[in-house]
Amino acid sequence: MSSKPISVLITGANRGLGLEMVKQMVETQGPLSVLFACCRDPDGPRAEGLRALAKKHPDIIKIIRLDAADPNSIKQAAQQVASVVGKSGLNIIINNGAMACLSTVLESTPEEMNKCFSTNTVGPLVIIQEFISLLRAAAKNSGTPGMSFRKAAVINITAILGSITVAKETFTKSLPHRVSKAALNMMLVCASVELQKDDIFCMLLHPGWVRTDMGGPQGEIDVHESVEGMLKLMNSLTEKQNGALLNWKGETVPW
Ligand SMILES: NC(=O)c1ccc[n+]([C@@H]2O[C@H](COP(=O)([O-])OP(=O)(O)OC[C@H]3O[C@@H](n4cnc5c(N)ncnc54)[C@H](OP(=O)(O)O)[C@@H]3O)[C@@H](O)[C@H]2O)c1
Repeated sequence: MSSKPISVLITGANRGLGLEMVKQMVETQGPLSVLFACCRDPDGPRAEGLRALAKKHPDIIKIIRLDAADPNSIKQAAQQVASVVGKSGLNIIINNGAMACLSTVLESTPEEMNKCFSTNTVGPLVIIQEFISLLRAAAKNSGTPGMSFRKAAVINITAILGSITVAKETFTKSLPHRVSKAALNMMLVCASVELQKDDIFCMLLHPGWVRTDMGGPQGEIDVHESVEGMLKLMNSLTEKQNGALLNWKGETVPW
């Protein structure tokens, strides 16, 4: 691991995979200069675990309010992050926060579709737009050529349920989630092309079927295994994987 401290931002960091990412990032992925752990309600009961973790690492973890469905809150979060990192910029964004709605083609309401789309697709898009100057600054300051995870990167947590190729085999009641993740995949691939000239690396990761509130108790793996695999993979990424869609084991997921 490189010894240059890096700055990281994770959304949906208060529970599930996001909270475990914060934990493993601070405990095993050093050195970090700062980790912005973003959540919708930093003072509420759902962020209790995150607050306890931040208390253990007060010099590294900064809890910031960010609601992916609210462009204003993304703008404010970007201003807060800029005031901390200054000219050094922000090295890594992990867009993890997302929502699911359990409904089928015939059941899904326009409200459910719009909510999932604004949270899971538009949110990550606005995050790239609002944080682009910080990512560019980090890429410039790295002093190394080409793209890499620790230089400047946007990692989007997606879902195999967004894969059109395997949609028939993975059919389940979560149409709004599936459609929004398929659209997220397209957005991120376009970002990987558009941001290449700035040396900003972009890729998509499927965390596996994980035992969280979203994945449910039947999930195949726990958060520890999923996050451990994803972090190991992130650290091994090379330019070749810019725009790739991989799972937590590093296997290619069909589009
Ligand atoms: N678990 C699985 O099997 C599985 C499989 C494939 C993909 N994924 C993906 O993995 C990621 C994490 O899921 P998880 O399993 O950890 O789910 P989870 O335990 O339900 O956690 C979801 C997280 O997203 C946050 N979130 C929801 N709406 C948000 C918004 N508008 N803005 C910001 N954050 C928001 C939640 O915050 P609140 O506490 O405020 O609600 C929570 O922190 C998601 O992108 C999900 O699609 C999970």
